[in-house]
Formats: sequence, structure tokens, C-alpha cells
Amino acid sequence: MINKTFAALEQELNSCFLERAEVIRGLLVAAIARGNILILGAPGGAKTAIAECLAQQLGGVFFSRLLTKVSTPEELFGPLSLKALENDQYKRVTARKLPEADIAVIDEVFKCNSAVLNTLLPIMNERVYFDDGSTPRQIPLQVLVGLSNELPDGGTDGELAALWDRFDLRYTVEYIKDERNFAGMLQLSSAKPRTTISLQELTTVQKQAEQVKITGDIIQALVRLWKELRAQGFIISDRRFRNCLRFLQAHAWLEGRLEVADDDIVILSHMLWTEPEQIKAIRKMVLGFANPLVVKANEIFDGALEWKAKLTATPDGAERTALATEANHKLKAAQRMLTELIKQAKAEGKSSVTITERLAAIQAMNEAVVNTYLLGL
Ligand SMILES: Nc1ncnc2c1ncn2[C@@H]1O[C@H](COP(=O)(O)OP(=O)(O)O)[C@@H](O)[C@H]1O
Ligand SMILES: [Mg+2]
Repeated sequence: MINKTFAALEQELNSCFLERAEVIRGLLVAAIARGNILILGAPGGAKTAIAECLAQQLGGVFFSRLLTKVSTPEELFGPLSLKALENDQYKRVTARKLPEADIAVIDEVFKCNSAVLNTLLPIMNERVYFDDGSTPRQIPLQVLVGLSNELPDGGTDGELAALWDRFDLRYTVEYIKDERNFAGMLQLSSAKPRTTISLQELTTVQKQAEQVKITGDIIQALVRLWKELRAQGFIISDRRFRNCLRFLQAHAWLEGRLEVADDDIVILSHMLWTEPEQIKAIRKMVLGFANPLVVKANEIFDGALEWKAKLTATPDGAERTALATEANHKLKAAQRMLTELIKQAKAEGKSSVTITERLAAIQAMNEAVVNTYLLGL
């Protein structure tokens, strides 16, 4: 039942935001795993809009704040309590601030200064707030979303390394790439998702996700992945790997599974990279473990994109018409290969969602090639 509610919300979010399927999935996984998720990307890529839109669909107390270099602890954690000061106690009035929030969105999160950072880290790490500097208090925070246009000053291993490290899931978003999606974005209505999920429902789901089984096969797969990552020089902390399990369970839960399947490993491609230049290599490796058919589908898709780029770069004329004829053949061949992959995925009991998306994109691309370059419509 709740599974269906989540699936409906995910679908609605995907129709409000184009080419944002992975981030949307990440946000839902983070909410179920009670994690911290970072979304990086250039301004105007719908980072804030997606995070706030999801927050509005989830019940519970929502806290959001845009950090600047001079943000004060008051802004995030509340003003000092005068009453407490009278009794020589140093306490904050945390009502409606981060320590009492269920969902938090922190924009420009890497503008964080050290006065804020010291209190923020334990909040992210253990969901603990140190009230008067010594007494820890468990806080209700379910999911923390960090947004940024840029990497931390001084890089991911600089002063803000600890903050960077606390983000379990890290996503980078780019502007819309596909022409149709771009046109679609221009025509989007202002309709918001309808499905809502109460805090109580979320808590129930979190408990169910904790029960999702991690089989010996999955452990074996993770060990192989760990070995391969090391062999290629990617050193990932034991803590991060251990932490991955919760997110695998959350992902499996979203897929309606009672045990983690190798398809769920895709989520790790957003958990195991540290430096942006590692994203591509780690993604390829992780996807290879998750579902080799998806890797093949992505290669076919990349090939199709190259044809499209070639055509766009060629001026109108006989040469372009010849090129378009060839592209049309190649794109048709690509569609046949993807159709085969979908069959194979189904036969092997693997997810065919990504492959089907790739197929639809290539179909659209081919139609555009025929209409624009061959029929001159
Ligand atoms: N991929 C997308 N799908 C739908 N709308 C988008 C997309 N990218 C940008 N927009 C539009 O641009 C607006 C600005 O996005 P915003 O959340 O302010 O960006 P950011 O926080 O990344 O700077 C959004 O509210 C939305 O209307
Ligand atoms: Mg923004």
C-alpha cells in the first residue's frame, strides 16, 4: 500500500521536473534511510525547487535556510534562551529551527562557517544536537538536503572535508539536454504533486526498509566491487561502505523488494565517489555490478548521441542528407539492440526501466532526424 503511494509521488515529481529522475529517486531513498543528500549544480537547474517540492509533500516540520559566510548559529539552531541565561545556563530556543525539524533543506551549504559547522556535523552524523555545548539531544531529523552551486572552498579534502563526507548521497545535476524535454519544461504547468506522505507513514516505511534482507550474494557482490575499486585506486572508507547497506535496503524497498537485489547497487554510484572527476569511472564500475545490461544500453545511447551531435554540426546540404540517412540506419539498429536487451533483462528477472528509457529517447531522436533532416519538416 505505502509502496504505491511512494511510487505515485515519484511519478508525479518526475512529471513536474524533467531529466531529474535520479535526484528524485535519491531524495526518496535518503528520506527512507534517514540520510543526508547533496545536490550540486549550476544555478537554475531546479535544485531548490525539487527539494522544497518534496519537502511539501512529506508531513512533518520543514526547516529551510540559505547559508552565507556570516550566517549565525541563531539562524539555524535558534536564539539563546534568556530564561536559561538567568539560571546561568546556555541554551537555545530551538522551536521551528533545525533541531526540531523533520525535513531540512540547507541551500548554499558550503558557505557554512565554523560557528555553524561544529553544531551541524553531529546533527548530520548521529542526529544529535548539543544543546548547552555538552548535553546531547536526539533530534527528529529524517532527511537533510544540502544544495550548492559549487564545491567546497579548498576542495573536498579541505576545511569542509568533514561536511562533504557527511553527505551519504551526492548528485550533480546539469541543465536539460534533450530537445523535447526542454520544450516540455517550457510548457510545464504549475501543477504540484498531489500525493502526500505523513511523518507516521514515513516512519513505518523506514522500519520496513530496515527489515529488507541483505543476502550472502549481495555481500559477495559488494566484496567484489570493493576489490575492484581498490584495484583501480579508489579508496573508500569502511564506514561509508557499511553505511551503504541502509541505502541499498531503502532502494530495494522502493522497488517493492523484500531483499536487496543486484539492481539496487545502482544507488551506490551516488555514494562512492569523492572527487567529481571520479564520477564517471565509479559509475561505470558500479553499474557493471548492478546490471551489465544497463551498461550496454548506456553505451548504445552514447553512440546515438554522437550521431546526433555530428548531424547538428554539419551544415545543410548533400553531405548532411547522406549523414542523416546513415544516422537513421544506425539509430534503427540501436533500437533493435535495446529491444533485445529489454527481452534479456526480463528473462533474467532484472529491471528494464533504464533500458526502456534509453530506447524511448533513441526513438524520439530518430524521429527528429527523419523529420528534420530527411523530410525537411
Ligand atoms: N529540469 C527541470 N524541470 C522542470 N523545471 C525546471 C528544470 N530546471 C529548471 N526548471 C525551472 O527553473 C526554476 C528555477 O530552479 P531553481 O530551483 O531556482 O534552481 P536552482 O536551485 O538549481 O538554482 C524551477 O522552479 C523550474 O521552474
Ligand atoms: Mg537554488
